[in-house]
Amino acid sequence: MNLKLEAAREALKAVRSGDRLGLGTGSTAEELVKLLGAALAEGALRDIRCTCTSQRTEALAVSLGIPCFTLNELAPLDLAIDGADEIDAQLRLIKGRGGALLREKIVEQSAARFIVIADDSKIVEKLGVGVLPVEVTPFACEVLLRKLAEFQPVQRGTFVTDEGNVILDVRVPETMDIADAVARIREHAGVIDTGFFPTEASEAIIAGAAGVRRLKRKT
Ligand code: A5P
Repeated sequence: MNLKLEAAREALKAVRSGDRLGLGTGSTAEELVKLLGAALAEGALRDIRCTCTSQRTEALAVSLGIPCFTLNELAPLDLAIDGADEIDAQLRLIKGRGGALLREKIVEQSAARFIVIADDSKIVEKLGVGVLPVEVTPFACEVLLRKLAEFQPVQRGTFVTDEGNVILDVRVPETMDIADAVARIREHAGVIDTGFFPTEASEAIIAGAAGVRRLKRKT
């Protein structure tokens, strides 16, 4: 079973004709984009206007005939749908292992509702099982590699983000809460943002072998 597809299929049910929609980045979000393209082509949905969190997603959306606009043209958005790398019980996320964290955070903070879609391998007890991506301005990259030494930063090869920045993948020390780590990291000029999304997600649709379940943000 393609669990990413199952999560995307469930999320598509939340899309209404006329919506202004933010489209995420990554393999799970791509399943949603393909389903959306098919729904528009067959007339099941109409008048959807989208903005994309990456050039990669936009290229796919445009190839499927999905109307795409800049964020400025559409904001505020009705809904954003995107994947995640790690999800905890409080619906806090780590995102950005696909390199699109900055546009993702901007788009998702512009949406009235943000639905995360994922397979159940993304659920973690404590965020930071894998790396935390940090987007930094190229001018500061070498200096930040030294200043952030306690977080074991590794530059992500020659990768350049859609915003022209570079990514440092860091490790959150076992003994440190991720929010504290992010606050420390963000003290440094040159850090633009991190892949920690503490409050953005409204709900998550998680697909597993036993079916699809929903997590909702507790208010
Ligand atoms: C892109 O920058 C990321 O935030 C993705 O949303 C995240 O990496 C999930 O990707 P997959 O759906 O491919 O696992």
